Amino acid sequence: MKIEHFGNYDEMSVRAAEIVAREISAKSGKYVLGLPTGSTPLGMYAELARLAGANKLSFDSVTTFNLDEYYPITRDNPQSYYRFMHDNFFDKIKIDKKRINILNGEASDPQFECESYEQKINSVGGIDLMVLGLGANGHIGFNEPGEFLYPFTHVETLTANTREMNQRFFSSLFEVPTKAMTMGMASVLRAKKILLLVSGETKREAFRILTDRKITTASPASFLYTHTNVTILSDLD
Ligand code: F6R
Repeated sequence: MKIEHFGNYDEMSVRAAEIVAREISAKSGKYVLGLPTGSTPLGMYAELARLAGANKLSFDSVTTFNLDEYYPITRDNPQSYYRFMHDNFFDKIKIDKKRINILNGEASDPQFECESYEQKINSVGGIDLMVLGLGANGHIGFNEPGEFLYPFTHVETLTANTREMNQRFFSSLFEVPTKAMTMGMASVLRAKKILLLVSGETKREAFRILTDRKITTASPASFLYTHTNVTILSDLD
C-alpha cells in the first residue's frame, strides 16, 4: 500500500488525474476504469476533463463502471449517480456512451440488475483501475461496516451515518434513499489496481483506522490491505 500526502485538495486531485491518465495512456487496447461519485473525486474529474479537452488524453478505448447507485432512484433525479456522473464528467469528455456502465436505479428487479452488472464487469475482463473514495465510517462504495461484508454487487441498506453524511446533497434526511446497489468488496478487490482518494477532516478517523494495519468488517476499507497494488492519495497530514 503506497500513501502519498498532499498539501491541499487541488494538488491531490491533479495527482489523481495524472495517475488515471498515465494508466489509460500506457495500455494499448481497451481500458476498464472503475469510478466513484461523491465530493472527493470532483477535482480529479475536472482535471481529467481539462486534459481531454487539451487533447492530452483520450477516452476512446475506455469502458467505465461506476461503483454504486442509490435504489430506487430515477435517472433524472438530480441526486442520482447517473446524473452526477454525466453532469460532472461524462458530458464534459468525448466518450462512447455505450461504454458507460452505471447500475440502474430504476431496475424492477435490483437483484438481477446487480448480478448482470457483475457479469458484465467479468465479460470485459475485469477492472484495470478502480478509483475509490473513503466513507467517514470506512465504507467503500456502499459496502457498509457491519458483522459481515458481501463479496459481489448487491443491494445494501445504508447506515444512519452514511445517510446523514449524504444528506447535504438532498433537501432533507427523509429524501435520502435507504438503500443502494453497490459493487461488493470482492468486485472492488479484483481490480488490477486501486486508487483511493481521501480528503477532508471528516475522514480523519476512518483514515486512521485504515492505516492501523488490521483487517476488520468494521472498516470495509481495511480490506484494501489484501490487495497488492493500492495507492492512497490524501490531503490529510
Ligand atoms: C461514491 C461512493 C462512496 C464515497 C464516499 C465518500 O460512489 O462509493 O463510497 O466515495 O462516501 O464520499 P465523499 O467523497 O462525498 O466524501
